[in-house]
Amino acid sequence: MTSIRLKRATSIVVFWRGGQLIFQNYRTRVSISADPVLIRLLDLFGDWRSEEQVSRLLAQYTKSSIRTTVRQLEKYTLLVREGTPEAQRDFQFKQAWSGWLPSAGFFHFGSKDVRYCATRHELKKKLRRLLANSPQPPFFKTYENVRRLHLPTATGARGEFLEVLMSRRTHRRFSVQTLSLSSLSNILYYTWGVTGSIPSGVLGDLPRKTSPSAGARHPVETYVLALRVEGLPPGLYHYATREHCLELLRLGNFDKKAARYCADQAWVQRAAALFLMTAAFPRVMWKYNSPRAYRTVLLDAGHVCQTFCLVSTWLGLAPFCTMALRDTLIEKDLGLDGISESAFYVAGVGLQWPTDTVRLRNRLSASL
Ligand SMILES: Cc1cc2nc3c(=O)[nH]c(=O)nc-3n(C[C@H](O)[C@H](O)[C@H](O)COP(=O)(O)O)c2cc1C
Repeated sequence: MTSIRLKRATSIVVFWRGGQLIFQNYRTRVSISADPVLIRLLDLFGDWRSEEQVSRLLAQYTKSSIRTTVRQLEKYTLLVREGTPEAQRDFQFKQAWSGWLPSAGFFHFGSKDVRYCATRHELKKKLRRLLANSPQPPFFKTYENVRRLHLPTATGARGEFLEVLMSRRTHRRFSVQTLSLSSLSNILYYTWGVTGSIPSGVLGDLPRKTSPSAGARHPVETYVLALRVEGLPPGLYHYATREHCLELLRLGNFDKKAARYCADQAWVQRAAALFLMTAAFPRVMWKYNSPRAYRTVLLDAGHVCQTFCLVSTWLGLAPFCTMALRDTLIEKDLGLDGISESAFYVAGVGLQWPTDTVRLRNRLSASL
């Protein structure tokens, strides 16, 4: 036996599925089904221990059976070996996420890199199967047998804001024209830029942006994938929100990659630019030490993306957003560890397809 020490991975959950006991490392997304006796073994690896030490504590099992089990557990990432990169990542995860475990960590990491329906045909088949099993739940809730108070009509109002609000929709086809640099700049500034400051007292001046953010922590970082932007070489950039500038990370043609990032949705590569949004968790974790705070990151991303859709619509452009992402691929290309900063949401914009109604055209450019 070696004196190499191992430890239980931080991110293990144990649950029953279909009568089977499942051990899952939700950070690595590796699951195995096993006998409950494994809990006893994993319990002993709460601290760094060698196989020898554990064998002494489990005298009813042979050393060779313990060695085989330990090797299997290491292979399935339920144990980490001291001094390895995997042990380092586990430590990093524990340090960064401890306040949000287990529920938020289980949800965030456990829902990364899922499999998406590969084709429209596959999706249609799946939906037909769902309908065959049960009807769709109702989209509208109403109360029977209660008094109804009629409201004044809401359709009488007029104005540019309403025009923008009512024109927003998801676009999935685009003209081949390039996006102007001024449109890109306007989208970035009015969606993610720092538009002011909030004097907070103890925490100093906090950034103000056009979307609300819980505690003004603004965890969303934005990376621009320039595909067809006039005057901007195609490539990957980081948007520096305070300075309102782009920081070049890598030049290159990312058309095919754009579709891959978005789970092979081919139409995405015909957009002019993608906005890869990530969550910088420590910004929020530092202040809110509870798994519930994870919800604020999701809500913030939703707010900011609606702002993006409205700003792009106002500019007469064709916006979209998608949650069908290859999280780890995006993180790898952005050079992120996926623990303290993680891929979260992707938005994109193109020029409107010629036959799509263009009702709002470059309003901001005209008004400047
Ligand atoms: C969180 C989120 C994820 C979405 N993901 C996708 C997606 O992966 N692919 C896609 O084509 N549309 C996606 N959409 C767009 C929705 O399908 C679209 O908003 C919905 O069909 C309503 O259409 P509308 O936006 O034109 O009103 C997403 C929207 C949201 C808010």
